[in-house]
Formats: sequence, structure tokens, C-alpha cells
Amino acid sequence: MINVLFVCLGNICRSPMAEAVFKSLVKEKGLENTIKVDSAGTGNWHVGNPPHEGTQEILQKNNISTTGLTARQINENDSNYNYIIAMDESNKENILDVLGSRHQEKVFQLLDLVEEAVDKNVPDPYFTGNFEEVFELVTKGCNNLLNKIMVENNFEGGQRYGEK
Ligand code: 4NP
Repeated sequence: MINVLFVCLGNICRSPMAEAVFKSLVKEKGLENTIKVDSAGTGNWHVGNPPHEGTQEILQKNNISTTGLTARQINENDSNYNYIIAMDESNKENILDVLGSRHQEKVFQLLDLVEEAVDKNVPDPYFTGNFEEVFELVTKGCNNLLNKIMVENNFEGGQRYGEK
């Protein structure tokens, strides 16, 4: 089993969006019994809540399931995840504060995987209101993440960067 955790600040906008998008990609590949996906927030304000309406709307518009998305806060047991993906740099710093810097090799930013993204921080739609922009960035990042995981774990169909 490969465990993937997406992390943002509130766990109601960006990381549940990434969780839902990534789960749908994993399902398309038939890997849902091999790759387990969750999300969490570094803050605790929204624990137990469903995603923000804007996240729910953009997912529904793209026919992506929103079931099972409930906000929770990260905790030190989350160091058991194999891939821990922060939405921005401050999330990454906060994750390492909770988990300990010895885990830093498995913690990275989603947009580190999107070459054309100049700013490696996923903008926070809780403040910008722009859920479309976030959906596009998250979808690109999730596609590249799944490819990376498939290559690193020798799944068939994964493509090393630059390979045809
Ligand atoms: P998220 O957005 O980190 O993408 O879930 C936020 C949601 C709530 C808050 C901040 C960011 N808040 O301050 O409550």
C-alpha cells in the first residue's frame, strides 16, 4: 500500500480538492486498492467540516466525487504516509514542525512537480475566491504526482520524464 496525504491550512479548500482529484485519477488507473489518499490541515478551525462550497462546486462541475471529504488536522502519526504533499511553502514548514525534519524527504510542494508554475505556492481560494485557477493547478500537479508514484514504485504505465 502506498499512502498519499495532501495538506493545506484549513483542509476545506485546496487539499480536499487535491484529494478528490487524485482519487479520481487513481481510480481511472484501477489503483484504488494500492494507493490510499487522504488530506489534512495544519490548522484546526474546520475539523469535522465538509469542503468549502467553492471546492464542492468545482469538483461537481468536473464530475469528481466529493464523498468522504471531512476536514481533520495533521498529527505526528501522519509521518507514516509515504508522500506528503503541501499546497504552499508555509504548509510545508508547519508539516515539518509537527512531523520532525527527519521526514523531510517525503514532504514536498505539489507545484514542485509542475515545471511551468513559476510560483510554487497554490494560491488560497479561501482568500482569492478563484477556485477555477486552483482546480487547474491541482489537476496538473496530481497528474504529475501519479506519474511520479507509478515510476518510483515500478507500476506499469508510468513514464519517466522525457520518455516517450
Ligand atoms: P485551505 O483554505 O487551506 O485551502 O483549506 C483555508 C481555509 C480556511 C482558512 C484558511 C485557509 N481559515 O483561516 O479558516
